[in-house]
Amino acid sequence: LTITPKMTINFSATDFAAYQQAHLEQLHQVQQTQPDTDLQHNDLGWLTVDKWADATQLTHLKNLATQVQATADVLVIVGVGGSNQAARAVIEAFAQQHGQVKIIYAGTNLSAAYYQRLLNDLAEQEVYVDVIAKNFATLEPGIGFRIFKPFLQQKYGANYAQHLFVTGTRGSHLEQLAQAEGYPFLTFPTDIGGRFSVFSDVGLFPIAVAGIDITALVQGAQTMRAQLQANNGGNNPAFQYASLRNYLHQQGKSVEVLGHFEPQLDFFGRWWTQLFAESEGKRNKGLLPLALTYSEDLHSMGQYIQQGQRQLLETMLVIDQPRHDLSIQASDVTDDFDYLTGQTLTQINQVAEKATITAHQASGVPVIELHLPKLDLTTFGELFYFFEYAVFISGLILEVDPFNQPGVEAYKQLMFTGLGKK
Ligand code: PA5
Repeated sequence: LTITPKMTINFSATDFAAYQQAHLEQLHQVQQTQPDTDLQHNDLGWLTVDKWADATQLTHLKNLATQVQATADVLVIVGVGGSNQAARAVIEAFAQQHGQVKIIYAGTNLSAAYYQRLLNDLAEQEVYVDVIAKNFATLEPGIGFRIFKPFLQQKYGANYAQHLFVTGTRGSHLEQLAQAEGYPFLTFPTDIGGRFSVFSDVGLFPIAVAGIDITALVQGAQTMRAQLQANNGGNNPAFQYASLRNYLHQQGKSVEVLGHFEPQLDFFGRWWTQLFAESEGKRNKGLLPLALTYSEDLHSMGQYIQQGQRQLLETMLVIDQPRHDLSIQASDVTDDFDYLTGQTLTQINQVAEKATITAHQASGVPVIELHLPKLDLTTFGELFYFFEYAVFISGLILEVDPFNQPGVEAYKQLMFTGLGKK
């Protein structure tokens, strides 16, 4: 196993073992779920990984990406929530290097200042756009489409359609539009919700355009699936994580901090936040997810975590062997940092991490450590699948449907009325 949840507070092992025993059936339910025959749910297409990300599809996406890379400076992803978070998490962690296609995000907000600046920046660039929408009624991507279509038309004239990819469900209005206008079309699986869509065209196409190896990412997910399916006991890591956080929730904890000491994981934290907030925050239940990047956030949220209300638990993503390192050189000026000379940044970061875990734990914050051997594409793929699988189990334990998000509709109705939508 490459991920090892470890409880670092004093808590009753006997009590927790009994809690786990009482919920093992939720693990088994997930393990036995057959996506294609479970008629109750039409949102489990992500579970087997291969269904929407088999070798043939990966080759197809890589070929398409190569065609775009031949001329593109920039790919704009127009999509919000699950339609962009996972791709952004991978791209911001592994790409954006010189010579690669730059990925830019739109359809995420309603700010004129944002779009004006973006359009100015793109004026001299070779631009492709991917409009990603499962339900092409969401305001933000709809506005992105309305802004980028004329932008591309003005830039490329009659050839504009070749620059406008759309990713939608089969049989949808978006597909009809693509056919009518000649836009290249990619599939948003009908049986996958946005936040579970990384291993489909939704996440994989932009990631491939960014020059990232989608096969390695998908392999990670397959490896993790095999591990999680093979272990039906209390030490199944996804079950351990899901049961620990719910056990602590039951004991009064109401906020889960996801902490890590690697800024490469910043946008992964945003994906994780969405996954747990939309999957569990319903029927007056659910831990409030809060992703933080240390050590920076120790200088803001660190104060609260150490001494604020004791409603927190913390899940710490620990990278055992970071791939990069840097030594601190001796200084030729007098400062107060001579004790660092000869140490490496990785050593220093690890000391800070251990100190943080110890201090938080001592202040009454239970810490769950999730250990990753290293941070590469394969472990990223493992992590995505691990948390998706865990939130499925966790939703069952909590007795909520992790695959819907009815709460996001409330403000929309008021907003649509305000905007005169019929
Ligand atoms: O995870 C989800 O299902 C949501 O976050 C959606 O991805 C998000 O609301 C965007 O929806 P759509 O792709 O229909 O515009």
